[in-house]
Amino acid sequence: MAKLAVCVSALLLMLVVLSETRRPVPCCTENYDGIIKLKYLKNFAVQLDTGICNINSTIFFTEKNKLICTDPKKPWVIRQERKINQLNSEPALYQEFNFE
Ligand SMILES: *[C@@H]1O[C@H](CO)[C@@H](O)[C@H](O)[C@H]1NC(C)=O
Repeated sequence: MAKLAVCVSALLLMLVVLSETRRPVPCCTENYDGIIKLKYLKNFAVQLDTGICNINSTIFFTEKNKLICTDPKKPWVIRQERKINQLNSEPALYQEFNFE
């Protein structure tokens, strides 16, 4: 049962990742529903619903250079953002995702 859950969430993750990587400019249209461990994450950027993209999103960069859209209101997302900020000496990549 646990194995199936892992499989399903891996599949969902893949779908979200694929739909984001097709575009030249990352634009999140829906947020991934699962939780990603800190060890897979390298950095993140913030997307606001005020640009051409219609939702707020925290975009995580994984160790495999994939982008994953997540809900910035979720406690685990906020927690990982904070940890990444502590680990990285560089500031998060907000500027690269300015859709003005
Ligand atoms: C998106 O984020 C902005 C800035 O934090 C906030 O003002 C706005 O209400 C948010 N929109 C939604 C749909 O949560």
